[in-house]
Amino acid sequence: MSNQKNTDQPKMRELREFVSNYSFERGHLLPALLDLQKEYGYVSKDAIEAVARQFRTSTALIYGAITFYSDIRTEPPPDREIVWCSGPACRISGGDRVRQAIEHTLNLSIDSQTSDGSYGFQLGQCNGTCSQAPQIWVDGQVCGKLSISDAIRIARDIRGDSNK
Ligand code: FES
Repeated sequence: MSNQKNTDQPKMRELREFVSNYSFERGHLLPALLDLQKEYGYVSKDAIEAVARQFRTSTALIYGAITFYSDIRTEPPPDREIVWCSGPACRISGGDRVRQAIEHTLNLSIDSQTSDGSYGFQLGQCNGTCSQAPQIWVDGQVCGKLSISDAIRIARDIRGDSNK
């Protein structure tokens, strides 16, 4: 998952040109959305309109597809981010307590970010490295075999007060 923040809003013309590389078959919708996110960091409202036009469908259908795939975001990513693995191996290994500790330390619920976009906490899926359970990703880097105190220390660092 990209954590790069692209503060430049792409113009509608640029977005239409980008999605014009995808034929309007349904099977190409997810690749188009993922590639948009890879390119711009998120799939903006304008991008959704461009995709709907390219795929000759409604924006409601595109929003529905995005809702189904938790990895696709519709807001710019925060500057710093913790992603929590919600897979079964991580949860069995104490992942729920790790999540609660991070939520408490960041004062954020999962799948949210601060209003200034400085940091966020996101739901993630198993990436197959279950031997590191329970794990999180911090700014894209795996942090595995986490204890509760590890999680709190990392969340404090993300919050910017690791020395307090
Ligand atoms: S369940 Fe967390 S990495 Fe597989």
